[in-house]
Amino acid sequence: MTPKVRKAVFPAAGLGTRFLPATKAMPKEMLPLVDKPLIQYAIEEAIASGIHNIVIVTGRGKSSIEDHFDVSFELEHLLESKHKTETLQAVRQISEMIDVAYVRQKEALGLGHAILRAKDLVGPEPFAAVLSDDVIDSQVPCLKQLGDVYEFYGCPVVALMEVPREAISAYGVVAAEPVKHAGHGSNVFRIHDLVEKPKAEEAPSNLAIIGRYILTPEVFSAIEATPPGRGGEIQLTDGLRHLLRSRPIYGVKFEGKRFDAGDKLGFLKATVEFALKREDLGGPFRDYLQKLGF
Ligand code: UTP
Repeated sequence: MTPKVRKAVFPAAGLGTRFLPATKAMPKEMLPLVDKPLIQYAIEEAIASGIHNIVIVTGRGKSSIEDHFDVSFELEHLLESKHKTETLQAVRQISEMIDVAYVRQKEALGLGHAILRAKDLVGPEPFAAVLSDDVIDSQVPCLKQLGDVYEFYGCPVVALMEVPREAISAYGVVAAEPVKHAGHGSNVFRIHDLVEKPKAEEAPSNLAIIGRYILTPEVFSAIEATPPGRGGEIQLTDGLRHLLRSRPIYGVKFEGKRFDAGDKLGFLKATVEFALKREDLGGPFRDYLQKLGF
């Protein structure tokens, strides 16, 4: 039987250079989308997909992430004494729902390297990997969509999205063919190759890898065998390419809308759309935008 995915790794040790100067002293993963940090959305997606064991890979200057998921006695006491029950609930909820462990990546040597730092905490079982700056708004949580395909094949699964040619060189890109199977639409692919940030003319397709993965423990030795690639970093895409020699890898063109919240424009788009969807803010925010003439 395919072992269940119980753990999720959240690499959060990158430098966030695209969002400077905001990210000079503040982790990108703590940027608030309306009123919650990016990493909380990602962790809530894992919880909604049935995963409660959380491993966060942090680095220098990332202690606010640990504080966020910790209990804040002073704050909770203050809210309690002021009878701010709803706010208290919102503050408490997330730390109550997860079991979180931290591991450090001393130097930002790449996403593959960050994942490798979680090897001992993950152990010999399948796990999810989630990049919090890819925010995905979907009916069914993206990780759950991947998890369903993982349960069927028992093999690693990555999230895929079609990207216009002119933007493809910012992504890991796959060569893949759709698999047809009862219960799957044409959104499940068998991957034949993966390339990190190819030139547009060399990209094997327009299918880009987005920051959601279900991985199996052999990925660790595949990353260990992977030399530094683009930008001198150990790339997860290169590790997966290595893994592909011994194991099939599948991709899912997920249902949902993805925002690149690690990029300033992507973050603004996500902020507007998430604010408009909010019950408490959507109405007045829409009125405000209309007054601005948009
Ligand atoms: P990005 O590719 O967005 O890199 O990382 P970055 O350094 O965070 O940001 P930019 O591109 O300089 O603006 C994708 C995810 O992988 C993590 C990041 O924290 C982010 O969640 N990451 C990346 C690490 O944990 N360690 C690394 O060495 C690199």
